[in-house]
Amino acid sequence: MSYYKIDNLEQYFKHYNKSVREPRKFWGKIAQENFTWYQQWDKVVEFDMAEADIKWFTEAKVNIVKNCIDRHLAKRGDKTAIIFEPNDPSETALHITYNELHERVCKMANVLREQGVKKGDRVCIYLPMIPELAIATLACARIGAIHSVVFAGFSASAVASRINDSECKIVITSDGGYRGNKTIDLKGIIDEALDKCSCVESVLVVKRINSEINMKEGRDQWLQPLLDEASDNNVAEIMDAEDPLFILYTSGSTGKPKGMVHTTAGYMVYTAYTFKNVFNYEENDVFWCTADIGWITGHSYILYGPLLNGATTVIFEGVPSYPDFSRFWEIIEKHKITQFYTAPTAIRALAKENLEYVQKHPLTSLKVIGSVGEPINEEAWHWYNDHVGSKRCPLVDTWWQTETGGILISPIAFVTPTKPTYASLPLPGIQPVLMDDKRNEIEGNQVNGSLCIKFPWPGIARTIWGDHQRYKDTYFSAFPGKYFTGDGALRDEVGYYRITGREDDVVIVSGHNLGTAPIEDAINEHPAVAESAIVGFPHDVKGNALYAFVILKEVGEYRVRENLVKEINQLISDHIGPIAKIDKIQFVTGLPKTRSGKIMRRILRKIAEGDYSNFGDISTLLNPEIVEEIKEGKI
Ligand code: WTA
Repeated sequence: MSYYKIDNLEQYFKHYNKSVREPRKFWGKIAQENFTWYQQWDKVVEFDMAEADIKWFTEAKVNIVKNCIDRHLAKRGDKTAIIFEPNDPSETALHITYNELHERVCKMANVLREQGVKKGDRVCIYLPMIPELAIATLACARIGAIHSVVFAGFSASAVASRINDSECKIVITSDGGYRGNKTIDLKGIIDEALDKCSCVESVLVVKRINSEINMKEGRDQWLQPLLDEASDNNVAEIMDAEDPLFILYTSGSTGKPKGMVHTTAGYMVYTAYTFKNVFNYEENDVFWCTADIGWITGHSYILYGPLLNGATTVIFEGVPSYPDFSRFWEIIEKHKITQFYTAPTAIRALAKENLEYVQKHPLTSLKVIGSVGEPINEEAWHWYNDHVGSKRCPLVDTWWQTETGGILISPIAFVTPTKPTYASLPLPGIQPVLMDDKRNEIEGNQVNGSLCIKFPWPGIARTIWGDHQRYKDTYFSAFPGKYFTGDGALRDEVGYYRITGREDDVVIVSGHNLGTAPIEDAINEHPAVAESAIVGFPHDVKGNALYAFVILKEVGEYRVRENLVKEINQLISDHIGPIAKIDKIQFVTGLPKTRSGKIMRRILRKIAEGDYSNFGDISTLLNPEIVEEIKEGKI
């Protein structure tokens, strides 16, 4: 019996039970039957949760790109691997076959080697959503270099801190990018970032928008001439199962970038398996995930998961609103998309527009629709289900994280009955538990608590780059012996999970995971600011928006508030990027603090939501009187 594919609910329970009782047999069989290895593993999994030390497929040798591309060539060489849909719909879409992808990745890999990039070196990729982003990422993995893709919406200072944190040797960027009717000056941002990065030896530049840019002698080179010269013959590096595959930065509770490290074999097995099952992938499907490759969703479900299964995957350069709000639906019709995977924030934004945008495009090619990134509210769920899925496509609400590598809790299309706003059941191999404040496991159903996972799965991140202690502290110490997700969840009467939201200092704005600490750090840089606190508050399109409480050094400065708001937002843009802009600023004379000096965000959150009803116990505050003042919005 094969465990790779689940066909019905009964089989799901069978596989699930097997994966809990005999995880080694379960994953060992999946790994053996569905991938190409240079050398088999010694142990399927070895772990010590207290030390946050997790290894899968120890001693195995493998190359993930050989599995993504080379092994498909005999059967699928002429099949389209990547469809590139440009920002401008009048520009021709590209169909890159597996043969062509192989050739382009091999050439890119050879260029990187010629530039002196070796196994284990870090490469920063800062590109728009164009084929070169996929090709550069895969080329790194082919030669064993660790890719660090930085989302092209991050500011120079955010890119610089990420480059420095992992000491990248080389940066791959472009002369710019298109985004709707705007262009973005990526090379200018990199130039500014590199003023602060001494580790970078060279910069390779893709030509995309033909803009006039500065090329620094001895550092910057156009990529195309190097590719033209390169051989398409490339021998892939033989990687150890636990060699790092990539670093991807995510938000944390301090301003220091948190580089999650994913390793090779476990990530490969897990993304392939979850892609195949959650989306009911079958040969000749055309899969479209609208995320950016700069986020984990793009890594796992635009690149690795689909390519490992020999699928056709779509890379879309543009935005849902350009040239108009029918763009997504037009693309589904144009490329006969079978699986469409997007974020609730996009659904909410599109649901606000005229229904005709979606109705004028027959979406009959679709068979599965998916959601990811934040809780999907009931209204958005129904709109998506009714108007995009036509009540005929299963809607898979997939819960997972940068840290988890792949989907953990989700319906399996055509297998698990869906329920609005519920991520439903854990996938095989995933053992969720809900914990109470006293660190006890909450048994039974119709309960809620902090969501933890009590057994490792192949896709879990292995560490934080350069700071294993922080990895241990963040994920394995709140509930000893378990991985703590940072999310709260409830379990309904039949055991379905619904994610209720973050329990820590992370706010999800338009599906982007933002730490409040780095934003506060940026605001505090303003010379007039003494202190600040950021919380999220509900927003009907973005899910959450940011609310800043700001204490100024001198009360006199309140008179120039309007300029201050502009300047503060500019600082945030400079330090992080426009995605972290705040919606509301309230100037205050103090912040509610505990006696140990910790800001009581729970209270600020309630004020930001406009809910003044139940602040809970404020007697432990150092300055309870401040709550009244903030509520009344004096000053
Ligand atoms: C949230 C994105 C509810 C959650 C893959 C998680 C979700 C954080 C869902 C991770 C979902 C993601 N329902 N909440 N289906 N999917 N989240 O690292 O709070 O960008 O912890 O990974 O997004 O965001 P990240």
